[in-house]
Amino acid sequence: MPAAVSIEKLQKRFGNVEAVKDVSLQVQPGEIFGLLGPNGAGKTTTLRCLCTLSTPDSGSIEVSGISVLDNPKLARQRLGYVAQQVAPDKVLTGRELLQLQAALYHLPKSFAGDRISKMISLLGLEAWADKRSGTYSGGILKRLDLAMGLLHQPDVLVLDEPTVGLDIESRSAIWDFLRQLKASGTAVLLTSHYLEEVDALADRVAIIDNGTVIAAGTPSELKDRVGGDRVTLRIREFTSVEEANQASVMLAQFPFVQEVIVNSAQGNSLNLVVTPQSDALLTIQQALKEAGLPTFGISQSRPSLDDVYLAATGKTLTDAELAAAGSRDPKAERKQNMR
Ligand SMILES: Nc1ncnc2c1ncn2[C@@H]1O[C@H](COP(=O)(O)OP(=O)(O)O)[C@@H](O)[C@H]1O
Ligand SMILES: [Mg+2]
Repeated sequence: MPAAVSIEKLQKRFGNVEAVKDVSLQVQPGEIFGLLGPNGAGKTTTLRCLCTLSTPDSGSIEVSGISVLDNPKLARQRLGYVAQQVAPDKVLTGRELLQLQAALYHLPKSFAGDRISKMISLLGLEAWADKRSGTYSGGILKRLDLAMGLLHQPDVLVLDEPTVGLDIESRSAIWDFLRQLKASGTAVLLTSHYLEEVDALADRVAIIDNGTVIAAGTPSELKDRVGGDRVTLRIREFTSVEEANQASVMLAQFPFVQEVIVNSAQGNSLNLVVTPQSDALLTIQQALKEAGLPTFGISQSRPSLDDVYLAATGKTLTDAELAAAGSRDPKAERKQNMR
């Protein structure tokens, strides 16, 4: 059986901006695949190329063995795309929008009615289907988007940031639904900049940064690759970067310390990778105290996908988000650290 999605060496630029430089990934039928990365990483561009909404500069894309570039019409039949922001007509009801969608995909009338009812019940939209979509909450709208994306029974459901801006309840309803969908054999390719979302949902993950896939595998493979227990150590926020560097050099000398990353973007914190050892925290704290470098906070945890990102890029996803948004307010951050 061909892969549900196969993307090889995708490249796409907009003028001077290399939105996608080197993206390759495969999604198998019945698999949830997460494309994780900060804002501006190239996630949406990748999805838009896959869904024939944007033409790549180079690379190949196949859906269920069909070349998207050579056979865009055929490929589109196999794909359901749920964009990040959809502004549906507000006057029509959910059911009417589904009927329009069915007509767009030339679904036979006899089949469409049943299929629409089925999607309405699968997504728990019974109470809403005959109300104007203008009255829907964000969570209900997203469920309607999913119903529309799935109406023509695609092999692959492609979701761009499916839960952004939704409350926890709506988010978990969507997660549950995607897990059901996976169990029915549909492939799901989703993008997210939420670590927990990708960690909780995805069978496999590609981490994308600056248009390039920098790590790929199952979430646990990726975390194991980072290795060791990871201690995140934060030197008090008014410490200069020189002091952070001084601490870094000193701590690197402990045999249980595998790696030290100075995180100057986030209040001069240090991120340490240590081999599991029960007294590591105490030893580190003691050493810093003796050197006159008191810590603001120190914690030890299993590696997360953010540690995978940090190991590959030298920054955390949060830092990358802040940098992309260009909205860092050091004063506000400082206040938060003081609490
Ligand atoms: N139509 C476009 N014209 C110009 N630049 C674009 C366009 N679409 C995306 N970009 C740029 O390409 C980069 C990747 O964007 P995008 O794929 O939307 O990232 P993501 O979805 O990961 O946030 C960004 O720098 C963005 O500004
Ligand atoms: Mg995007």
